[in-house]
Amino acid sequence: GAVELGPYRHFMQKEIFEQPRAITDTIPASDAFEAKLFGDGASAAFDDIDSILILACGTSYYSGLTSKYWLESIAKIPTQVEIASEYRYRESVPNPKALVVVISQSGETADTLAALKHAQELGHRHTLAVCNVSTSAMVRLTEMQFLTHAGTEIGVASTKAFTTQLVGLFTLAVTLGKIRGFVDADKEAGYLRQLRHLPAALNSVLALEPQIIAWSEEFSRKENALFLGRGLHYPIALEGALKLKEISYIHAEAYPAGELKHGPLALVTEAMPVVTVAPNDALLEKLKSNMQEVRARGGQLYVFADSDTKIVNEEGMHVIRMPEHYGMLSPILHVVPLQLLAYHTACARGTDVDKPRNLAKSVTVE
Ligand code: G6P
Repeated sequence: GAVELGPYRHFMQKEIFEQPRAITDTIPASDAFEAKLFGDGASAAFDDIDSILILACGTSYYSGLTSKYWLESIAKIPTQVEIASEYRYRESVPNPKALVVVISQSGETADTLAALKHAQELGHRHTLAVCNVSTSAMVRLTEMQFLTHAGTEIGVASTKAFTTQLVGLFTLAVTLGKIRGFVDADKEAGYLRQLRHLPAALNSVLALEPQIIAWSEEFSRKENALFLGRGLHYPIALEGALKLKEISYIHAEAYPAGELKHGPLALVTEAMPVVTVAPNDALLEKLKSNMQEVRARGGQLYVFADSDTKIVNEEGMHVIRMPEHYGMLSPILHVVPLQLLAYHTACARGTDVDKPRNLAKSVTVE
């Protein structure tokens, strides 16, 4: 009841605002990225692997997709990310040198658990769970573990579990990068500094809530929305669209912005809001031209732009400025306004935010 919720209207809102704390608790306390953060056997296992296979469902799948960008760019390790319910039923090519990573808030999702067992039956010896529940089946059945410290998550739509998974997966990327000789002491110190600055940076993002509430009024009257991102932020666009679908029941789709011209541009009219994640990274100029393609067709852009992107409010272009540019860890910041947008849009539509229709917090049967 009211006591547990404190000043918040729903658990989802409380959990969104808890992220600075959840992330602080999940960032490793040690001053070095070391294999033992993943358990006793991790050092030997990490020396024995040549690739990564990530298996997960729902929001956890999107944290896996995000981490692929980190694992390949920081640790230069080939990474595959697959929906658990697909992997378990197809004929794949096992690689005993692959590290199988299952990502799960609950550690009990039936499809992910079955995918893990399937991978083990195929001969995969090295398995790691990134999980929020220390007593869960996935933690018991894996060789290695990274526990996220989000705390109990009650809202069906996952928020703090997602961002803490990202912290764990980033830690994995830097640790493997160091072991494989791609992360020197300077880089390691830099990554650690960035991780430790995250909670403060998140607090400034959470302060954008009033601006996002203003947008949510407009969104609550829509039946469709498109989300665009590029690179590391494509999975964040996917997660933003999923959040909106889950709790506001607005149909939303996410696209990597470069793919717009191959289909979704046909959907763009004045009635279509296009949410764009626009960090100031190497793809910004490309993204800006994708945004022009939308504007030229009358589409309404809602852009979360980094402060230094020079994207300004004008006809058809609504901009909320992110407080700072955050490099490699930017997805962890950029997902938060998308969580808030979905949350406030759902509130404006009067849905049952913490228990959306037809969905369960943990799907333990197939
Ligand atoms: C359900 C929940 C989602 C969650 C997914 C995977 O669909 O509603 O929020 O992302 O399961 O759950 P897991 O516990 O494995 O992360």
